Amino acid sequence: MTMSVLLTGGAGYIGSHAALALLQSGFRVCVIDNLTNGSTEALRRVQEIAGKELHWVEGDVRDGHLLRRLLIQHGIEAVLHFAGLKSVGQSVLDPLTYYDNNIGGTLQLCQAMSEAGVHKLVFSSSATVYGDPATIPVVESCPTSSPENPYGQTKLMAERMLSDLARADARWRIAVLRYFNPAGAHASGLIGEDPREIPNNLLPYVSQVATGRLKAVQIFGNDYPTPDGTGIRDYIHVVDLVEGHVSALKRLKNQSGLDVWNLGAGRGYSVLEVIKAFERVSGKSVDFNYAPRRSGDIAQCWADPSKAWRELGWKAQRGLEEMLGDAWRWQSANPNGYRDDELTI
Ligand code: NAD
Ligand code: WQD
Repeated sequence: MTMSVLLTGGAGYIGSHAALALLQSGFRVCVIDNLTNGSTEALRRVQEIAGKELHWVEGDVRDGHLLRRLLIQHGIEAVLHFAGLKSVGQSVLDPLTYYDNNIGGTLQLCQAMSEAGVHKLVFSSSATVYGDPATIPVVESCPTSSPENPYGQTKLMAERMLSDLARADARWRIAVLRYFNPAGAHASGLIGEDPREIPNNLLPYVSQVATGRLKAVQIFGNDYPTPDGTGIRDYIHVVDLVEGHVSALKRLKNQSGLDVWNLGAGRGYSVLEVIKAFERVSGKSVDFNYAPRRSGDIAQCWADPSKAWRELGWKAQRGLEEMLGDAWRWQSANPNGYRDDELTI
């Protein structure tokens, strides 16, 4: 029988790609999003690509009453919880908003799920919970450390809350997925990352320099102990990432308690390597200059994703150039993101 799933934050970057992958894998999809950083146009395009409909509600995950109603009315069996705020810098300036949204939202969601008798959950965590990892590649057993910023704290606290919940009640089955650096877009070029403000993350920034919307990339530090002095990260294609969610969701049937998986490609690229590869793939030049290190950044980080391969049968299939090519197809076809086509569905 077709399984119904609820995606919180499904109108955002990763959630919209997940909605598409789930529709294409035969799930019935229901989305709740308060549109603080999501777009109804993304959902319209998801349905266009899939040739299938999803159900969508504008609402907040901190609204327990609405959540309970959705869970029950739509016969939801599992929830993928993407909803949250994700700007590291903003979280330092406005920590209460981050704790309220990310911790308050996860708490309300779990309470509503518990009341509705829904106990399968896939949670969007982040490699940020490892802080500056002691050993690289990072395995899931690597100690989590106290992240320097409130955003990272909310991810670690939410993980702890879910772990306590799974220990207290054996009905819960929870997959915690620690993302490394999601990037790229669906190959159609119809959906992608659409930050409302000036991007904080490298890839959307580089893409917007290539379209001429921004002037030059500031490379935060060229004196790291890495081969070219710039920071190294594990960029993972967003379509690979969401396929990891489909695998984790399928495994929840046979899982008990909470388990954690790294979702990364398993190799790192430096900022300079990314910029050079982007220029090759797009045929555009990307101006850059060197700036001081960004506070809180680490030199290098990449995943050991072998646990996900062993246990979920998942590994990233798409390489850096495909990721950048897809990011460029999206950005060049939609230089203003979804704004030109935003409408209500
Ligand atoms: P995004 O901002 O594009 O998507 C998040 C969505 O959640 C948005 O559509 C937003 O409108 C919605 N939302 C926020 N607060 C809400 C609330 N209270 N109620 C309902 N909807 C709400 O971000 P994304 O990149 O798609 O990230 C998805 C999840 O993955 C987040 O939890 C994020 O912290 C996590 N994550 C992202 C990255 C990354 O680099 N993109 C890395 C690691 C983890
Ligand atoms: C990547 C590299 C920068 C922008 C953050 C969050 C993490 C997760 C993913 C989630 C670093 C350099 C960047 C720029 C630059 N977020 N850079 N110029 O910092 O690895 O991770 O996003 O929800 O929790 O911390 O990603 O894309 O910001 O940076 O030189 O304009 O690019 O210094 O080396 P990061 P990023």
